Amino acid sequence: MILDPRKTTKEHHQQLSQQLHDHNYRYHTLDQPTITDAEYDQLMQQLLKIEEQYPELVTPESPSQRVGSVPLNGFDEATHASPMLSLENAFNGEDLRSFDNRIKRFLSRTADFEYICEPKLDGVAIALTYHHGKLVRGATRGNGSTGEDITQNVRTIKTIPLQLQNNYPDRLEVRGEIYMELEAFRKLNQQRREEGEATYANPRNLTAGSLRQLDSRLTAARPLTISCYGIGDISEDTARTHFELLEALHHWGLKINLETVSIAKNIDAVIARYSELQQLRDQLPYEIDGMVVKVNDRGLQRELGEKSRTPRWAIACKFPARQEETILESVRLQVGRTGAVTPVANLRPVNVSGVTVSSASLHNWDEIKRLDVRVGDTVVIERAGDVIPDIIRVVTEKRNGTEKPIPEPTHCPVCQTPLFKEEDEVVPRCQNINCPARLKESLKHYCSRGAMDIEGLGDRQIDQLLRLGLVKNLVDLYRLDKEKLFQFERMGDKLAEKLLKAIETSKQKPLENFLFALGIRHVGAHLAKILSRHFGSLEKLAAASAEELLEIHEIGPQVSDSVVRFFSDENNVRLLEELKELGLNPQSDSQPRGDKLQGKTFVFTGTLERFSRKEGQELVEAQGGRASGSVSKKTDFVVAGPGAGSKLVKAQQLGVTVLDEEEFLQLIQQDNSNESHQI
Ligand code: IVH
Repeated sequence: MILDPRKTTKEHHQQLSQQLHDHNYRYHTLDQPTITDAEYDQLMQQLLKIEEQYPELVTPESPSQRVGSVPLNGFDEATHASPMLSLENAFNGEDLRSFDNRIKRFLSRTADFEYICEPKLDGVAIALTYHHGKLVRGATRGNGSTGEDITQNVRTIKTIPLQLQNNYPDRLEVRGEIYMELEAFRKLNQQRREEGEATYANPRNLTAGSLRQLDSRLTAARPLTISCYGIGDISEDTARTHFELLEALHHWGLKINLETVSIAKNIDAVIARYSELQQLRDQLPYEIDGMVVKVNDRGLQRELGEKSRTPRWAIACKFPARQEETILESVRLQVGRTGAVTPVANLRPVNVSGVTVSSASLHNWDEIKRLDVRVGDTVVIERAGDVIPDIIRVVTEKRNGTEKPIPEPTHCPVCQTPLFKEEDEVVPRCQNINCPARLKESLKHYCSRGAMDIEGLGDRQIDQLLRLGLVKNLVDLYRLDKEKLFQFERMGDKLAEKLLKAIETSKQKPLENFLFALGIRHVGAHLAKILSRHFGSLEKLAAASAEELLEIHEIGPQVSDSVVRFFSDENNVRLLEELKELGLNPQSDSQPRGDKLQGKTFVFTGTLERFSRKEGQELVEAQGGRASGSVSKKTDFVVAGPGAGSKLVKAQQLGVTVLDEEEFLQLIQQDNSNESHQI
């Protein structure tokens, strides 16, 4: 049999793409993954490798395109197939009843009909166009008839299929809401807080901001998701009811938050559901600001039609906002470990839907100017998404003239160094790397769980170390001894020993913890892990260029620049050298344990009986080799089990050494025994 090697690659690419699409759908949309993250990454690496070799195989639908692509100069206009309408508002059961009466009058009927109740997600409306199942456009609502073409950004959202599945129609424009789950939002803000960065106001604004990025790699880094709720255009329309339509969309691979959608047989049931959903509001993983009620029968919907901007067959019943009024008593300035100075409002304590609130984030001075908020003002605060509430407006009618503006500081409130604001940044920063406030935050971060995890060195102890002048930088931590520690209040022999042991043990922490602990800007725990896995050692990472970093999946320009800047800073270089001299030389956890197969590439094919494919790959990687999914000139060994097909043929064509399982195990064994001889 003669095989066209290009054809096999193309087929292999197609097969990999399909697998990745399926796994992506199972993981993100269904929340039912069937493979591990590592296995997913491996498939993705295989795909990327093929695409690197054969760039002509890269299509806009390739799963590789989810990472974002080159920045745009601006967004094009996008005209909608049919106008994106908005909804009239209702605020209570009574309003809902008049809505029901209005419809019945319009239709000249008295009999009840079904309604469908959907949560009203608080995000950004989107229209997605699919041609022959392929995503060809994502557009914002804009003025209703024309929005902005944000296709590049939309492609990075994992729950938006790039390719539909199962008997989809030729033409489809689906509509939905892009949003961010609360957990993801809180995590991001928590990370921002830890990094001393200004926090985001609420998930909605962050979603809108993320979708407006001209560099889609930045959008890719934001955990956005979607829930679809309707269509603007479809080539074959067979759904009799709105619920059937949602089911069809779901069947084609689109994400619908079906678990919160319900059918009500009349308006009483709608009103009951409205109360129920309000109760449920706090338990949902996303922010909703009301319930959308729609006539379920699409024939009736057509009969009802629409007014100029709103359909007659639907209404949004809003929930009361979680807002309260209180007084802004003072403002405190926080200095984060990156030097960012952020204003925090001290509020007169007030209860907002069951939670006592005494401070609110003011984010930055642009926000302060926008709100024109002053000390002494009566302010409306709202809990939305974050545990820390937001000031949404000032009740100017309640001013008495004694309120004081909040000036932007010119000097660091702690070390008095002049503050500096980078271009395009809204936060002023203290540039003094020895600023005690920055050092304190950096040390806290360094010792915290997930970073170097130094038990016993909490906020209080770090405060003391600094106050006593025992620690002036990170390195000093490793120079502590009993004598120094005895200067602490209530420090006994046992406790000092325990603390020193914890500090000593931290030297053994893997590279990913150390990288995270260093507090490199934009490198959180997740990216630290990725960098650590990729480079394996601090030296290799420190020597990496921005281009090399950019080649890594998930690393964008912001991160690569930040990493390069960190490792080219003289102070940091000295710090790392000193730490190394003190015995800190962290290595990646997943580093090869031997190097007998260094530089050798293996491909496993056929049915393996002695070990699983994954185990085989692990054996190879443990000896410094690489396991790949496809055979090429660069392959050194193909390990073939029974039933091996095209890969085996290709290996034979290319003259690649083929091993059976037994021979492979012998090779590994032999290497191991060599190793024991050497010891
Ligand atoms: S239906 C003709 N359903 O609320 C139908 N809208 O003014 C128009 N929204 O910005 C929209 N959840 O993006 C519909 N389940 C839902 C919704 C929903 C959120 C948003 C929509 C629009 C606004 C309505």
